[in-house]
Amino acid sequence: MEVKTSLLDNMIGVGDMVLLEPLNEDSFIVNLRNRFDHNEIYTYIGSVVISMNPYRSLPIYTPQKVEEYRNRNFYELSPHIYALADEAYRSLRDQDKDQCILITGESGAGKTEASKLVMSYVAAVCGKGQEVNKVKEQLLQSNPVLEAFGNAKTMRNDNSSRFGKYMDIEFDFKGDPLGGVISNYLLEKSRVCKQPRGERNFHIFYQLLSGASDDTLMKLKLDRDFSKYNYLSLDSANVNGLDDAASFRTVRNAMQIVGFMEAEVQSVLELVAAVLKLGNIEFKPESRVNGFDESRVKDKNDLKEMCELLGIEQSVLERAFSYRTVEAKMEKMSTTLNVAQAYYARDALAKNLYSRLFSWLVTRINESIKAQAKTRHKVMGVLDIYGFEIFEDNSFEQFIINYCNEKLQQIFIELTLREEQEEYIREDIEWTNIEYFNNAIICDLIENNQNGILAMLDEECLRPGTVTDDTFLDKLNTICAEHQHFESRLNKNSKFLTDHSLPHSCFRIQHYAGKVLYRVEGFVDKNNDLLYRDLSQAMYKATHSLMRQLFPEGNPAKVNLKRPPTAGFQFKASVGVLMKNLQTKNPNYIRCIKPNDKKVAHIFTDSLVCHQVRYLGLVENVRVRRAGYAFRQPYESCLERYKMLCKKTWPHWRGPARDGVEVLLTDCSVPTEEFAYGRSKIFIRNPRTLFTLEERRRACLEDLATLIQKIYRGWKSRTHFLLLKKSQVVVAAWYRRYAQQNKYQKIKSATLVMQSFVRGWKARNILRQLKYEKRCKEAVTTIAAYWHGTQARMELRRLKTEARNKRAVSVIWAYWQGTKARRELRRLKEEARRKHAVAIIWAYWLGLQVRREYRKFFRANAGKKIYDFTIQRIMQKYFLGLKTTTMSPMDNTWPAKPYGFLEGAHTQLRRIFHLWRCKKYRGQFTEEKKAVYEEKLEASEIFKDKKALYPSSVSQPFKGDYLEIQKNPKYQKLNSAMEEKVLLADLVNKINRANGKGSPRLFLLTKSNFVLADQKTGQVKASVPLPDLASVSVSTQSDGFFALKLKEGSASASKGDFLLSSEHLIEIITKLHRIGTTAADRDQINIDISDEFLVQFKQDKVCVKFIQGGPKNGNSAACKRKNNRLLEVSVPSP
Ligand SMILES: Nc1ncnc2c1ncn2[C@@H]1O[C@H](COP(=O)(O)OP(=O)(O)OP(=O)(O)O)[C@@H](O)[C@H]1O
Ligand SMILES: [Mg+2]
Repeated sequence: MEVKTSLLDNMIGVGDMVLLEPLNEDSFIVNLRNRFDHNEIYTYIGSVVISMNPYRSLPIYTPQKVEEYRNRNFYELSPHIYALADEAYRSLRDQDKDQCILITGESGAGKTEASKLVMSYVAAVCGKGQEVNKVKEQLLQSNPVLEAFGNAKTMRNDNSSRFGKYMDIEFDFKGDPLGGVISNYLLEKSRVCKQPRGERNFHIFYQLLSGASDDTLMKLKLDRDFSKYNYLSLDSANVNGLDDAASFRTVRNAMQIVGFMEAEVQSVLELVAAVLKLGNIEFKPESRVNGFDESRVKDKNDLKEMCELLGIEQSVLERAFSYRTVEAKMEKMSTTLNVAQAYYARDALAKNLYSRLFSWLVTRINESIKAQAKTRHKVMGVLDIYGFEIFEDNSFEQFIINYCNEKLQQIFIELTLREEQEEYIREDIEWTNIEYFNNAIICDLIENNQNGILAMLDEECLRPGTVTDDTFLDKLNTICAEHQHFESRLNKNSKFLTDHSLPHSCFRIQHYAGKVLYRVEGFVDKNNDLLYRDLSQAMYKATHSLMRQLFPEGNPAKVNLKRPPTAGFQFKASVGVLMKNLQTKNPNYIRCIKPNDKKVAHIFTDSLVCHQVRYLGLVENVRVRRAGYAFRQPYESCLERYKMLCKKTWPHWRGPARDGVEVLLTDCSVPTEEFAYGRSKIFIRNPRTLFTLEERRRACLEDLATLIQKIYRGWKSRTHFLLLKKSQVVVAAWYRRYAQQNKYQKIKSATLVMQSFVRGWKARNILRQLKYEKRCKEAVTTIAAYWHGTQARMELRRLKTEARNKRAVSVIWAYWQGTKARRELRRLKEEARRKHAVAIIWAYWLGLQVRREYRKFFRANAGKKIYDFTIQRIMQKYFLGLKTTTMSPMDNTWPAKPYGFLEGAHTQLRRIFHLWRCKKYRGQFTEEKKAVYEEKLEASEIFKDKKALYPSSVSQPFKGDYLEIQKNPKYQKLNSAMEEKVLLADLVNKINRANGKGSPRLFLLTKSNFVLADQKTGQVKASVPLPDLASVSVSTQSDGFFALKLKEGSASASKGDFLLSSEHLIEIITKLHRIGTTAADRDQINIDISDEFLVQFKQDKVCVKFIQGGPKNGNSAACKRKNNRLLEVSVPSP
């Protein structure tokens, strides 16, 4: 629940001066002081906010405070600038009224701070979003940029705005900021060249020199030391509490946020540097022949650097400081400038350059913050303009500033006092007239087009002839003499003749805020604000684009002989525009007051405050508010707002609004003196009455809210209940379905179980029955089978007997038939023989008959001759047929016998021919070949049909020396060891008794011995004389194993027999046998061919057994040791 607060709660003094009792200047000041001492720096006069400068930061601008004041009634909380800002913003957003916030007060009173507070508050409470935030940020960041270039330290304020600023912030229909427009008024440019004692030039100069990097300074040809620059006052270059370097960074950052390009920032800094350089250019006189002095630049270094910075031709600028071209009526004249004029020209250039740069910055910022949307904007204007100034020495600037303040005061008077009174009259409300001072008369003294001071100044400036500040003062003295607010020593008004406080060269104006003495010196010059055309043309010639832009009048193509409008004229015009603009808006006032001159906290100087209160007309302001009515509102809106307070007007009032308000106020028992009925508005005297109404309204609203809440809650609960009910029905339905489903499933499964039991029981019964039946059937079948078996066997027996009988019959029959057939055959043969004999006899007889018949025709021996011839022919043909046979003994072909009678001869002839051709064949043989064949024959005799290996050896010729022992150098040594001719040399395997494996050996055979040698080295392992060899054993199979058995008791027998294997077994054995056969001194070597034989190894005999079809190990036989006494050789099957 929101806590109800009011302006009246915990009030220190009075928060609203309207409630001050008694009301006079003293009590006013006391109230201000009282509040100031308690850190209450804001006080209201109705809707006007008085702001005292605390000169220290107070914790009253926090985000929490912003939230506190947001959307709250103006009088609801203690006075604050946020309340005013909120009121203005809401009025703008909700009621579509353009607003302006007018901040006035003297220098250092806190105007600029106040304007920033208003802006930051609005920024905090208005809409948010990426785009909106960017706009806000740009609007807020325009302040540091303008302050750097337009603010300076003065005696009154360390951050004094030296220009007037009016900023229009534009909002869309939602109240979100869209952009803004800044207008600037009259920059105090004289400060560029000269500053009063204790004051500084514009901040930017110091910020640049302190904050820029060495690199930047080098580029700008600047030195960090302030003392090097004539335009910078030395005595207060460093200000306490001001960090110029940090500010420079802030400014650069702000420029970037606002949207300045890096190149633009650089250009701006270059111009700032140029101004500093310009100040350092000094002149010296140079005498001319005509006796006049002409100025010359003293040290050209700064000039050169400046020209380099801006891209100006040095000679052009140098000339512009020495000569001046005057154009009049198509005539051009060049006059020389003396040193003073050159300095004047230099300063004028610096001032112009700086002020134009400042205006360009404002234009550039405006470009960035310009609202993009073309829709209608709501506008909130914030005016932060220099306050009323009274110095010891007041010049043209103060005159202009004070004129502006006069205008503002006038608008204040117009809009608050006069408007107020006029409205009372309009509304026909009784009004006690309050006298107030209307400063329109002072404004008129200054701005009147005929005889106003500004008009006369312009007239003097434009007038031909000698014009000086004195002639201007004379003119004022004549024309304004009668004016009651104008005072001058030379005035015709004698009363000032003796006034010594009024020097001769001055005039005094009685401003609404006090009398100000203006020194007339410099008025004409400052108003003219002349810059020699030569200088502006020199500037235009610069290659620096921003520079050219700032001096458009320097363009020779656009020479305008017309004088530019004077400074006074321009200012008056812009103030006029500003006033018109302000008048279209709803004003909100912030009156700033500075509590002391020392710029320190906690000091409240009564006299100073009193002076400000007086010239701001604050007490007068309170009086007006108190005399009238604090609050007024059209009947319609009043009724609309409070109609809920009365039953008759709630919810609708059908009659006229005024009657409704009357009924309402009567019903609410508001005392009659508290309000008055105007023509269209109700006027409420006291704010408290209004608060009461507001309070009651709020209470009523709460009741209404409670009612709405009640109905809404009822509706919501009902809806909720219905929803619950509906849901419950659905849930119940689903649950029931689910439960029934479960139940059904259970019953179903129980039924299924029972069913299955019953079916099982039934099935078992049937099964039992069927099994019984099956057993019965099986028994019957078995019995039947036995019976049928018996029957069948009996039948079989019978049939067998029958068959035996039948066979016996058929055998007997067959025998009998055979006998019959043989008898018949014999008979037939007999008959055939007889018939054949008959035929032969018949043939012989016929032959005999024929011979007998034909004998007489042949000679007695012709028959024999024919016979012989025939035989001869037959034989001849037969022998010629044998010619086809070849001479090869291998050829087995022989022609078939042609005639039966040659059978014996044919066979004999074949045998004789074969023997003959073999003999022929043998006849061709050489002795060696013969020996070979003899060997082969011997092999055949030994092995043919005895050993399976033999047939494969027939086609292989016996080579004898397989190792080529004679030729092979490897065996040279071995060969030389042999005493006789080597008949056979071959590689054999010597079978090892231990494992049956073979190791290669060279086997050499000579006529008298055989030798076994190492295969690799050729070393003789064993040499056995052949007489020691008893027998050789081989198997019947196709292996190459052979055992060389030695005679028992011989010299070689001690080594034991040799079991060897060779691929040339047949040849080896044959050769051995042959040597034995041919040697006369030796016995025949026995060749034992059997599949099992004994071999005498060193100690014991081992049986070597050959088996066929053993495991195939390639094609060769494998020997394996079976046990100590048995070596088994498995020979692959052929
Ligand atoms: N509300 C405030 N809280 C704290 N300090 C303040 C406040 N208002 C002003 N000041 C202090 O007073 C100084 C002067 O304020 P400001 O610059 O706003 O004066 P001004 O009225 O704009 O003066 P000028 O007319 O010279 O520009 C500020 O620099 C700041 O130190
Ligand atoms: Mg200021």
